[in-house]
Amino acid sequence: MAQKITVPSIKAMKGRGEKITMLTAYDTPFARILDEADVDILLVGDSVGSVVAGYPNTLPVTIEEMIYHTKAVVRGVTRALVVIDMPFMSYQVSIEDAKRNAGKMIKESGAEAVKLEGGVNMKEVIESIVAIDIPVMGHIGLTPQSIHQMGGYKVQGKAEEQKRKIMEDAVAVEEAGAFSLVLECIPTELAKEISEKLTIPTIGIGAGIHCDGQVLVIHDVLGLLGDFRPKFVKSYVDLRTVISQAVEEYMDEVKKGKFPTEEHSFHL
Ligand code: KIV
Repeated sequence: MAQKITVPSIKAMKGRGEKITMLTAYDTPFARILDEADVDILLVGDSVGSVVAGYPNTLPVTIEEMIYHTKAVVRGVTRALVVIDMPFMSYQVSIEDAKRNAGKMIKESGAEAVKLEGGVNMKEVIESIVAIDIPVMGHIGLTPQSIHQMGGYKVQGKAEEQKRKIMEDAVAVEEAGAFSLVLECIPTELAKEISEKLTIPTIGIGAGIHCDGQVLVIHDVLGLLGDFRPKFVKSYVDLRTVISQAVEEYMDEVKKGKFPTEEHSFHL
């Protein structure tokens, strides 16, 4: 059986110069397929809100919804490290709240680490969660829980001032004790600088080739969403078309009385 991926083994991959693969998962069948393919980290992202639940953004997602989906993912995994996203307002109010919610999410979901958004502003929160031995993955750059403050899903860190702030955020997350850091939608050059400066692995999404690992939303990879595709997404297959064709074939056979056949029928 393949060796279980742990927080220390993810950190060690950076030391060996081995790229880290991370994908989102929200349910057991997908988790099982991705785990069997040896993906290193499965992230139960709060993107579940927009990808699976049909919310306009990630803000409505609750702790209970995150736990429900993560339990399903954990049931499909034997090798990958499972990381659960802390949803909006589960860690922003107070340190006590953040610790209690991180603990609840780890305890009830079976995930092995939490992810939360923010840099300098979340340094104490990350420190306090790490202090109770819950591994934390940071997330800076484009942080979808700040959608209204940012005024949309835009590339961050192009201007000098913003670039400096993102670098400060990265250093703060590492100093706070996070074991890895997601860099979302920032220029390749900035992600390279951050990845070279930090000792913890960076995992990029829309952050170019120089990150220590990459993450994408599984529904994007499989071509399951609509025609809108952000620049940083690569779909490796068009499953939307494959599914439509299969469903049309099924309906055609039902309408024409061709399904079910003897092969799919029971007899007394
Ligand atoms: O919620 C999510 O899926 C994420 C990744 C895209 C990094 O935060």
